[in-house]
Amino acid sequence: MKILDGKATADQIKLEIAAEVEKMTAQGKKRPHLAAILVGDDGASQTYVGHKEKACAQVGFKSTLLRLPADTSEEFLLSEIAKINADPDIDGLIVQLPLPKHINEQRVIETIDPAKDVDGFHPVNVGKMVLGLPSFVSATPWGILELMERYGIETSGKHCVIIGRSNIVGRPLANLLSQKSKPGDCTVTICHSRTKDLKEYTLKADIIIAALGVPEFLKGDMVPEGAVVIDVGITRVKADTKTGFRLAGDVQFSEVSPKCSYITPVPGGVGPMTIIALLRNTLKAAAL
Ligand code: GUN
Repeated sequence: MKILDGKATADQIKLEIAAEVEKMTAQGKKRPHLAAILVGDDGASQTYVGHKEKACAQVGFKSTLLRLPADTSEEFLLSEIAKINADPDIDGLIVQLPLPKHINEQRVIETIDPAKDVDGFHPVNVGKMVLGLPSFVSATPWGILELMERYGIETSGKHCVIIGRSNIVGRPLANLLSQKSKPGDCTVTICHSRTKDLKEYTLKADIIIAALGVPEFLKGDMVPEGAVVIDVGITRVKADTKTGFRLAGDVQFSEVSPKCSYITPVPGGVGPMTIIALLRNTLKAAAL
């Protein structure tokens, strides 16, 4: 069993991106600039945005964080997005999700200029991705594909079972992995909460991607010998630790890992790779 070390891979890619930024600035080009909007004070969102800002600094990007109170009106948020859309110094914009209940997330996403949508959530980018056209691919799918590619995991002709059908992970991944591309060329099965006898599918998989958000859902008896297992879950569960919680993946690691050829840990697997996707997309946006 080999660990797919997302942290080490992400650190390596950060060095590559930093070198590209150096080259750009040496040629007199401006530094890529990512703006983030955070509405409210959700703990996990603050942590994620903090990681994104730190990663920007590590590779030499400029970053701007706009913090807005939880009672910000949708109208005000949309007007701030419009300002950033029109600001030529800013290359990429993300609005951290989830947003407070009174704000329509879809309207917010659709207000972001698709050319600055480095999260790849705008319907224009999703549509282009589905058609196999150049686009901003969203963070988690891109991170998973890049991690598998860097470890030389063959996907062509393999059966990939994805558990979870979310718009930001399961469905885009299914699209990308089924495309005639590298990585890709998989036979893909999407399973979800209504799938009958899930185990029947997972036991026939070469690659299992668990992205349903249920801690330790995938058990040892659901995984065939030699499978590649990618764990997308990251849920805070109560624990007797300093912080009062620990991070749990969707995979019961101690049972599943002995059966795998490759497996991602949580934390330190898919998570660090998602931030790299954002950096890569921002670099791409800066070149547009
Ligand atoms: N919340 C959880 N994941 C993400 C993400 O990838 N982008 C944004 N904007 N918000 C998130």
